[in-house]
Amino acid sequence: MWAEDFSDLAKTLKASEIRELLKVTQMEGIISFAGGLPNPKSFPVEIINEITSNLLDRYGEKMLQYGSTEGVNSFRDTLAEYFMKTHDFKNLSRDNILITSGSQQGLYLLGKVFLNPGDIVVVEAPTYVGALTAFQTFQPTYVEAELENDGMSMELLEKKLKELKKEGKKPKFIYSIPTFQNPAGVTMSLEKRKRLLELAHEYDVLVVEDSPYEELRFSGEKIPQLKALDNDGYVLYLGTLSKVLSPGMRIAFMIGDEEVIHKAALAKQGVDLCTSPFVQYIAEEYIKGGYMSSHIPRIIELYREKRNIMLDALEDYFPDGVEWTKPDGGMFLWVTLPKHLDSEKLLPKAIENKVVYVIGAAFYPHRDHKNTMRLNFTYPSNEEIEEGVKRLAKVIKEAL
Ligand SMILES: Cc1ncc(COP(=O)(O)O)c(C=O)c1O
Repeated sequence: MWAEDFSDLAKTLKASEIRELLKVTQMEGIISFAGGLPNPKSFPVEIINEITSNLLDRYGEKMLQYGSTEGVNSFRDTLAEYFMKTHDFKNLSRDNILITSGSQQGLYLLGKVFLNPGDIVVVEAPTYVGALTAFQTFQPTYVEAELENDGMSMELLEKKLKELKKEGKKPKFIYSIPTFQNPAGVTMSLEKRKRLLELAHEYDVLVVEDSPYEELRFSGEKIPQLKALDNDGYVLYLGTLSKVLSPGMRIAFMIGDEEVIHKAALAKQGVDLCTSPFVQYIAEEYIKGGYMSSHIPRIIELYREKRNIMLDALEDYFPDGVEWTKPDGGMFLWVTLPKHLDSEKLLPKAIENKVVYVIGAAFYPHRDHKNTMRLNFTYPSNEEIEEGVKRLAKVIKEAL
């Protein structure tokens, strides 16, 4: 009835593949590798129950009131201390931290703060589809740097930055998910991290480090975050408690240069006034009271087993000519089919066989890669992982 009155922007909005797919996943008997959901078994329900009732007794009035847009000060202080102590971030104070309602909001705010239509954003190819959705409102132009098994190609990045410079252009920022990347599950090497920062300095470009999976390492050595290698405000870090506490609580944080944080807070005012203080107090106690550090190993144990089951099943059932990444953490892995296969065309066959995944093309701004798919291993049960891989293998073998 009102569709004609929608704004030009609203007219361009359509449901993403992933949202559409989530409908299919509700069907009886479907095994879904498509979602990006943490396993509900990872939620610390009892801890939250205990923390919440204690906090309500002590701080009920503050928890239920509006809060400042920047976030609850004591929570920002707790985060500053946490990241300096456990992640080696340099010289943080609460003024470097904005509490956001999910990192998804952080991405949207960055778009609001930095992007005019046509401005350039460098992204990994493939990249997080939700970032493309968040930035889309501001109509940027994307430059892609191919993702390799050890992170974004620095050669390609340098080449593109050089070309842009020759044309008198400069990206507004480089968006990267360096650790346990969504969708591909790969992690950027230390050498590449250092090189990325050198290039950021050389070409004077901000780096946005989006790191929701950082704490979920199952194997391999910890690699310092880009933000930990940054001494002078070239990295803007997005962190979230969605994967180590609860995505339903919608609590995350942006850490970076004071001037950017201040501007992002102004941008946030018009969006939601503030992130729920109720939830911020609970999150603060979850970190400060040591609950988070004792709970994370349980999540890691749960997910490590699931990753191993998926890797073993892929090895056992997938045909020759299909490749996949072997993530050291996070929630996803990335399958590359032989070039002539199109994962979008295979999807109806997969649904017929009662298994779903997300087509790889969804993760490329120009949707020009057809032979890949993302598999989530954290949500399905262990039995479903094995059975789902078996079903998918059958679909791929038939197509071959
Ligand atoms: C790379 C990446 N960034 C941001 C988000 C959004 O996280 P949040 O729940 O904090 O909004 C996700 C969620 O899956 C993600 O994978």
